[in-house]
Amino acid sequence: MTALVPGTFDPLTLGHFDVIRRAAALFDEVLVAVAPSSSKGPWFSQPERAELAAEACRDLPNVRVDTFQGLLVQYAEQQGCRVIVKGLRAVSDFEFELQMAHANRLQAPRIETLFVMADGQHSFLSSSIVRELARFGGDLSLLVPPNIIEPVRRRAAERNREARHIY
Ligand code: PNS
Repeated sequence: MTALVPGTFDPLTLGHFDVIRRAAALFDEVLVAVAPSSSKGPWFSQPERAELAAEACRDLPNVRVDTFQGLLVQYAEQQGCRVIVKGLRAVSDFEFELQMAHANRLQAPRIETLFVMADGQHSFLSSSIVRELARFGGDLSLLVPPNIIEPVRRRAAERNREARHIY
């Protein structure tokens, strides 16, 4: 059975990676589905985010990465996936995830959403914290997979240069 692990992954963090790795240990295959997220003004384009995610997961043989447009459950159905796996960090994640799980279930009752509790070490971690620390030259080694550190640093430097131009 293939599990779908969806997200914006701007960029993929060690918390995301932990959820993907744990799903990969439970299911035959994991399909990491990178969402468009045009409204969030991402640091990385959708293909760039997919490339970084694929780089991070390259040592997990049963994990592949793809991009999708539109509704997640429609994509899941196209791909023949009946399970969506998501991570929960804290109670603050719960309400929105509950809403999304219900909305997805209304659209596609055959598809189940399963949650795994984020590792305690990652419960504070988010892509926006990574971007914030990167902007100010923070240490990213405990936040993102090793092969993502350099691309994030480079993008932070580019964005800092652009910001200096504007103000
Ligand atoms: O990493 P994120 O931003 O928490 O991921 C959210 C994501 C991409 C899983 C969610 O926004 C999503 O499923 N987007 C696709 C559109 C969709 O199907 N929305 C239905 C929920 S109401």
